[in-house]
Amino acid sequence: MLVPWQGGARRATSVSGQRERRLANTIVEFDRVGLRYGTGAEVLRDLDFRLREGTFYFLTGPSGAGKTSLLKLLYLAQRPTRGRMSLFGDELADAPRDALPAYRRRIGVVFQDFRLIRHLSAFDNVALPLRIAGHDEQQVEGPVREMLAWVGLADRASARPPTLSGGEQQRVAIARAVIARPEIIIADEPTGNVDAAMAERILHLLTAMNRLGTTVIVATHDLGLIAATPGAQLIRLENGLLVDPTGALKHPPGAPTRELGR
Ligand SMILES: Nc1ncnc2c1ncn2[C@@H]1O[C@H](COP(=O)(O)OP(=O)(O)OP(=O)(O)O)[C@@H](O)[C@H]1O
Ligand SMILES: [Mg+2]
Repeated sequence: MLVPWQGGARRATSVSGQRERRLANTIVEFDRVGLRYGTGAEVLRDLDFRLREGTFYFLTGPSGAGKTSLLKLLYLAQRPTRGRMSLFGDELADAPRDALPAYRRRIGVVFQDFRLIRHLSAFDNVALPLRIAGHDEQQVEGPVREMLAWVGLADRASARPPTLSGGEQQRVAIARAVIARPEIIIADEPTGNVDAAMAERILHLLTAMNRLGTTVIVATHDLGLIAATPGAQLIRLENGLLVDPTGALKHPPGAPTRELGR
């Protein structure tokens, strides 16, 4: 099952050589990071970890553990209330607000609640990252049609999000997140609204992007997804703290190993 642009010449040099080099690099580093909303208690505490470039991570943990909050820090929608964090090698905890959009453009996000633009068609939602990146319409039409076809929505290209089912909206959101081939893909429960066959297809798309060198971080409750992704690393949050996944999961699916810490 080929994914769109899999045969493309995104990286002209050998993928395997590049992948080896990229694997050595830290793409995200958190140093004693904490997050609280307003004056409430900290919802994330003492997060201390590194993520390696080119690795596939699953983020698990009970509802309310802080997964979405951690992802918001990663895609720069929230700032830590304490600690340091760096992305792409740059320290960003105190970076000026106007420095952040340039980093955000390097990250594709699938939001738990999709966040599609209601008055734009499915096509225009998916085209948005390419248009923002300054591609002319000639370079937009083909890839967007191909991506929509790939997620099974070729015939819904002109539909607006309010007229799409939850699963269809989720697929538009995924297409939008990956279309501009970001360096990091962050997906919050990306298979929460689709059937098993579509979940497998979405996972295939994410693993294919990962093989091309993209760092992928997926928050999920779906142990089936984790089991179906050998080689993925597991991050587990409980009550705002990172816990050892092998200790927390008595029967670790696919036995992913811990890749955090230092
Ligand atoms: N904007 C907010 N303001 C105040 N508290 C918040 C906000 N967003 C999340 N919280 C709180 O932070 C904690 C972590 O929430 P978060 O959404 O990160 O959990 P989660 O692990 O993603 O849960 P789920 O699996 O249900 O999506 C919860 O106690 C939640 O109530
Ligand atoms: Mg969540």
